[in-house]
Amino acid sequence: MSDNKTIVLETFDPSKTYINQKRFDCENKAINKFVAGSLKKQVKQSLSNCFVLVDTDNNDRFVGFYTISAFSINADMLSVLSKGSLPARIPVSRLVMLGVDKEYKGRGLGKLLLQNIILRTVAAADEIGIYGLYLDADENAYTFYEERGFIPLKSRENPAPTPMFIHIDTLRDAI
Ligand SMILES: CC(C)(COP(=O)(O)OP(=O)(O)OC[C@H]1O[C@@H](n2cnc3c(N)ncnc32)[C@H](O)[C@@H]1OP(=O)(O)O)[C@@H](O)C(=O)NCCC(=O)NCCS
Repeated sequence: MSDNKTIVLETFDPSKTYINQKRFDCENKAINKFVAGSLKKQVKQSLSNCFVLVDTDNNDRFVGFYTISAFSINADMLSVLSKGSLPARIPVSRLVMLGVDKEYKGRGLGKLLLQNIILRTVAAADEIGIYGLYLDADENAYTFYEERGFIPLKSRENPAPTPMFIHIDTLRDAI
């Protein structure tokens, strides 16, 4: 694994121009387009929050990011968890987007971002009710999440994303 000493995680600042944000390439076209065109606006509108990895050895180059928001899902989506009766709508945090630039992949940065998402979700759940962490996994990233404890909420129907979930108690136990 390469040395990540120069990589820093910071809160995304929508008023700032990040080096390489427009050319960010995580090899997922939809995510690249979102980073180049919609990310600033989405954060400015408080529709999600974003945390970004910058390479301080490379003019604070934008090398990875995630966005997270409040969300809710129908309780029937959680029937696979067998948690007994639940109210109709369940409050969750949602990992909306996650990506690492192809030049920086394979050195633990995706894992580092996911760990930070988990910490942030647990911290938020200590303040307001959050039942767990939800995401829609792209086929190419399904195994990445599955190996980290996320449970599919329905069967995989490639190319549609798979809704995945991890309960807040599992996250608390993991940190
Ligand atoms: C998924 C992604 C964020 C992983 O980033 P990364 O920095 O390369 O991942 P890491 O180096 O932290 O890898 C951590 C582990 O996950 C594994 N891994 C990485 N990408 C994976 C993938 N797509 N599928 C399965 N496993 C993956 C690595 O082999 C490594 O395993 P190890 O801990 O046993 O060594 C990155 O590949 C990416 O940006 N993908 C395109 C965008 C995307 O699909 N985002 C998710 C949309 S839901």
